[in-house]
Amino acid sequence: MAPRRAPPRSSGSSTSPSTAAAATSSPTTAGPGPTSCCAPTPSCPTWWPTSTRSTRTECCTATGTASTCSQPWPLRADHWKPPGRSRRRPATVVRVEPTAPEHPPLPEPPVLHAGGGVLLRRHRPEDADAIFEQCSDTDMQRWTSVPVPYERHHVQGFLDKVDAGWADGSMASCAVELDGRFAGTVDLRLGEARWAEIGFGLHPAARGRGVMTRAARTLLAWGFDELGLVGVHWRAVVGNHASRSVAEKCGFRVEGEVRGLLVARGHRDDGWIGSLLASELR
Ligand SMILES: CC(C)(COP(=O)(O)OP(=O)(O)OC[C@H]1O[C@@H](n2cnc3c(N)ncnc32)[C@H](O)[C@@H]1OP(=O)(O)O)[C@@H](O)C(=O)NCCC(=O)NCCS
Repeated sequence: MAPRRAPPRSSGSSTSPSTAAAATSSPTTAGPGPTSCCAPTPSCPTWWPTSTRSTRTECCTATGTASTCSQPWPLRADHWKPPGRSRRRPATVVRVEPTAPEHPPLPEPPVLHAGGGVLLRRHRPEDADAIFEQCSDTDMQRWTSVPVPYERHHVQGFLDKVDAGWADGSMASCAVELDGRFAGTVDLRLGEARWAEIGFGLHPAARGRGVMTRAARTLLAWGFDELGLVGVHWRAVVGNHASRSVAEKCGFRVEGEVRGLLVARGHRDDGWIGSLLASELR
């Protein structure tokens, strides 16, 4: 490694920090700033912190004196804090109270025919058994953030959340019916500036027949037309090809894979993310 060139001299009258005591004889040519005499080399016999507060180390070979030191450099005055004295001004603390985003009111939950025997409607208490079966399924537990183990009381928590979403305008959630039977849920979680995120899951008995593609397409059309949405995001754990296929068939552009994108039950998974503008819905 080439010897480091002496940087411009710093001004100031502080003494060198104690961690650099073995090499702190400031050369007379180094000016009044805090300097030390050292030079990193490939065969470094000594490592020392670059400042009293830093954990970064640099190699210092020199134990030079004013007369022998050829490589003086200033100690990092911006890093260095003399013991017992703060060089920083006290920070001004600005307290920002978290506020829940305001949502425009939602219309009444719609009844939407999606074709092929698929209907979207409001959830009902009678859906509870099928919701419990759906959420106890291994794919639901693998790919979504449902509680594991899924217990009966979680169903009521879910239905309450759905009602709260319609009431406060934060989520438009619909039950999916196939041939008159509860088959799953699709929802739009409404964000700021007229964007939303779609979420969905089906009872295992209804999968693999294009049911969710019909349901998602129908709710997305309603969201663009009735709520005036500008765009919708879709996210899924990497590897959830069934979800991705539904999103792509609706016209989502899958734009990337993001590390640690999705949080479920206290851990993070890498995720796919995509977006859909109103004009792109298929
Ligand atoms: C994702 C899900 C809603 C898809 O609904 P669906 O109505 O079965 O979707 P489709 O019938 O349109 O099938 C989608 C595609 O996935 C395929 N697929 C279905 N189940 C699959 C599975 N278990 N593994 C791999 N692919 C599967 C289908 O063959 C189809 O492929 P194609 O589009 O190339 O024909 C449903 O599989 C589900 O509820 N999964 C568990 C919950 C979940 O993952 N939710 C999404 C979280 S982001």
